[in-house]
Amino acid sequence: MRAVIFGASGLLGRPMMRAFADQQVSGTGLRRKSQRLITLDATSPGDVRDVLDRLRPDIVVNCVGERRPEVWAGAPARARRLNVAAARLIAQGAHDHGARLLHISSDYVFDGRNPAYRTDAPRNPVNAYGRWKRLAEDAVRSLCPEATILRLPVLYGRAEYATETNLTQIASQLSAGCDMELDDDCVRYPTHANEAAEVCRWIAGAQLQGRYLGSVCHWSAEQGFTKYEMVVMIARRFGLPAVHVRAGQADTAGGDRPVDCRLDCGDLRAALGWPAHRYRRFDEEFTQVVEPWLLSFRPVSAEGGR
Ligand SMILES: NC(=O)c1ccc[n+]([C@@H]2O[C@H](COP(=O)([O-])OP(=O)(O)OC[C@H]3O[C@@H](n4cnc5c(N)ncnc54)[C@H](OP(=O)(O)O)[C@@H]3O)[C@@H](O)[C@H]2O)c1
Repeated sequence: MRAVIFGASGLLGRPMMRAFADQQVSGTGLRRKSQRLITLDATSPGDVRDVLDRLRPDIVVNCVGERRPEVWAGAPARARRLNVAAARLIAQGAHDHGARLLHISSDYVFDGRNPAYRTDAPRNPVNAYGRWKRLAEDAVRSLCPEATILRLPVLYGRAEYATETNLTQIASQLSAGCDMELDDDCVRYPTHANEAAEVCRWIAGAQLQGRYLGSVCHWSAEQGFTKYEMVVMIARRFGLPAVHVRAGQADTAGGDRPVDCRLDCGDLRAALGWPAHRYRRFDEEFTQVVEPWLLSFRPVSAEGGR
């Protein structure tokens, strides 16, 4: 099996490359360069076509997107291109090359008012990101009807910089003693990126056996927390003071936030048949993810800063 992972330098793309390492896998990135990755612009029709012509994959996974509100709110046209135009080009390319496509979408296609959401629940996004993800899903479905769409909730995992994930960002702010008011309204289901990637690898294998074609799947961890609850957990686990942290309302920078987009993952869980110990629990996993970003725990770096 030859696989191409678009967006392989990102939070999900990195573990995706590891999950597909048993196959002949190639990954792409844009700004983050590495010898292991092909540099291309997924919003360029020529770049997408050229790489697919050259690599002739059996499976394509699209992890390109812009999901950080602080970025997409400031540059909505660019974010829309990454979330929608790139999805369109990759879907068209996968279809033209006869490759199976696994497209990554988001729980933000739902309005958060009526959880848990089954895969066929009506979509009603409340902000621009959710609307782009819905547009991307529709484009993928029309251009590559056999594509599988996987919706995921907020992800966490080994970060390359503190602001790469919500979790590592709030952990570093907590340890720096920043005055913070954090959303205590919206429930999130932080899911480990490694687990999401392993699920993708499983789905890709099923796609190549002719299963899950044209379907929508959901994957999510089960434990739900507000951002405020997460920061309190971090403070307790590491014995950090949290007097400078207050419970607040949903952060509306970048538009409304859905209150609770819990995904019903029953179908996929049953199909995977994984033993209970294989599922990653946030309360057991977050410690090692945030520890490198707690300023008071970090050794003084070579540059002399913290
Ligand atoms: N992270 C989450 O919490 C979360 C939750 C639900 C769904 N999702 C979805 O999952 C997917 C992956 O998210 P992620 O968190 O891994 O995103 P990410 O960390 O921001 O990574 C985005 C990837 O897209 C690449 N990219 C950006 N602009 C590009 C362009 N013009 N051409 C080619 N590649 C480009 C980036 O490459 P460079 O960095 O090298 O430029 C990077 O590899 C996205 O569709 C996202 O919407 C994410």
